[in-house]
Amino acid sequence: MGPAGSGGSMSDTPGRADSGPVAAPQQAMPEHEADHVVEVRRLSLWYGEVQALTDVSMGFPRNKVTALIGPSGCGKSSLLRTINRMNELIPGVRTEGEVLLNDVDVYGKNVDSVEVRRRVGMVFQKPNPFPRSIRENILYGAKINGYRGDYDELIERSLKQAAIWDEVKSNLKRSGLALSGGQQQRLCIARAVAISPEVLLMDEPASALDPISTVKIEDLMRELVTNYTIIVVTHNLQQAARVSDYTGFMLSDEETKGQLVEFGATNDIFTAPKDKRTEDYITGRFG
Ligand SMILES: Nc1ncnc2c1ncn2[C@@H]1O[C@H](COP(=O)(O)OP(=O)(O)OP(=O)(O)O)[C@@H](O)[C@H]1O
Ligand SMILES: [Mg+2]
Repeated sequence: MGPAGSGGSMSDTPGRADSGPVAAPQQAMPEHEADHVVEVRRLSLWYGEVQALTDVSMGFPRNKVTALIGPSGCGKSSLLRTINRMNELIPGVRTEGEVLLNDVDVYGKNVDSVEVRRRVGMVFQKPNPFPRSIRENILYGAKINGYRGDYDELIERSLKQAAIWDEVKSNLKRSGLALSGGQQQRLCIARAVAISPEVLLMDEPASALDPISTVKIEDLMRELVTNYTIIVVTHNLQQAARVSDYTGFMLSDEETKGQLVEFGATNDIFTAPKDKRTEDYITGRFG
């Protein structure tokens, strides 16, 4: 369970007579006690001879948004793709370490990569609806996964969850490609949630969008996180600060490619980073 009641106000604790702020009830759980849907352990990754991740260990708390930040090329997308085994579609990739999804190693012997990708959905930087109707975009994955429920109900529910239902409900036969970029991205999010994943990976989901669509995607992430665990890569530090509960800062340097420098509650990372390199990055001194 997550830190239940962490959003509770002081009125939840009427017995407290001491003055001054009492932070304890609001504080996030210590990392080792948190419930991690995904846990990466000592993960390293190579593209052929080129190392892209080095000994990364971190946990992603359930029903929280975790942001991954860091300069271009530091391995954020590589880490994300490791979680749903998408990297293995790239020839010459080798990984070491473990990626646990609810305590089961997704690279374990009897684990089916298709099942992993059903449980860990992904949304990309560039909206990529299929060149089919809105309806078919939603049903595609559901059909592959043998969905037995009511198709119309699934379509409506998924589009509503992605906050695009009202804009498209009058014509679900329209091509997904006929929508605006921001609408296409929300359609892709609807498509991802239609197969009921546990985790949503989002790789710079708003970076190709205008400011209004960006706000919609950010609002949507805050809504979706009540049902899903979200891991989002972003170059937009304000966005990371706005949408995420936890933040991981990654970096590549000469000696160590794709390392996790620091992980913690977003507020701590942005206001009191422990590592000088994190501070330099968030204050815009490099990257
Ligand atoms: N398919 C690939 N084949 C070979 N090398 C790759 C491949 N994808 C990424 N790399 C290399 O791995 C390193 C990490 O790349 P990655 O795309 O994970 O970084 P990133 O942090 O997502 O960067 P950006 O912020 O620019 O998206 C880079 O040096 C990159 O060149
Ligand atoms: Mg990337």
